[in-house]
Amino acid sequence: MQHAQPFADRTPHSLLTPLQKKMYERDGFLILDRFFDVATCKLLMQRANEIADRFDVENHRTIFSTTTARHTKDTYFLESGNDVRCFLEEQGIAQNGQLLSEKKYCINKIGHALHRKDPLFKLFSQQHKIGLLAQELGLGNAAITQSMYIFKQPHIGGEVLFHQDSTYLYTHGQPIVGFWFALQDATLENGCLWALPGEHKKPLRSRMIRSGNNIQFEHYVKEPFDQTNMIPLEVSAGSVVILHGLLPHMSKQNVSSQSRHAYTLHVMAEGSEFADNNWLQMKKGQSFLRLSD
Ligand code: FE2
Repeated sequence: MQHAQPFADRTPHSLLTPLQKKMYERDGFLILDRFFDVATCKLLMQRANEIADRFDVENHRTIFSTTTARHTKDTYFLESGNDVRCFLEEQGIAQNGQLLSEKKYCINKIGHALHRKDPLFKLFSQQHKIGLLAQELGLGNAAITQSMYIFKQPHIGGEVLFHQDSTYLYTHGQPIVGFWFALQDATLENGCLWALPGEHKKPLRSRMIRSGNNIQFEHYVKEPFDQTNMIPLEVSAGSVVILHGLLPHMSKQNVSSQSRHAYTLHVMAEGSEFADNNWLQMKKGQSFLRLSD
């Protein structure tokens, strides 16, 4: 019996209306409600759980935290650009290193080459519809610089502070663009994204710079983000949030009993150049996978 190829929909029509393109230009983000179906969400969640089950937590206890940035001192993190690696949630692990609950509920995220190394995530990431979306956003045949699976665990899923993605993935030419795929409903309760609409028109405030295995931050603007106009981006499972690389966004701690799984891709426009002092570095001779390869 022949199985249908997942994500084989070759949508011929355009995905974005002129109004949506204008909204993206104006706000720096755009939500496409239910961009894919719930069955797809379940398939990706199941695969992420399998990866989490296989995770060798005894040998890799790297905690990912944007508040302490302690992961940046760890080669397990620094070399994850070409691999599928799991990072722990700060509140999922005790001072003595013991996990505070079952392993799969202590993982913060999986990164950063699911799109390259995992066959299912590769198929999803390179499906026609996402390539078309990038084309319509003016990114051409964009390069996938990284992928992440974010768990935002119930009760302990940590806060992600306001940031611009270009701080971490700096490009010469057009700024990086994030595709944030909601695999579960993202709500106020379980830690949805928040953004500062229109603030992507302001300059990049800082950069994370790698030299060898050292990470340092360069700061260009000292004042904290003005959060007066922050708005929540609550979305249903299957929706995609498109995020301009200079748009300040954050998410609060998940204090609910519901997880908030999401899969993200950060793509670079065709013709732009990835800074060679970003934290994420390809192996010599290796190039980024493109949305349509
Ligand atoms: Fe981000």
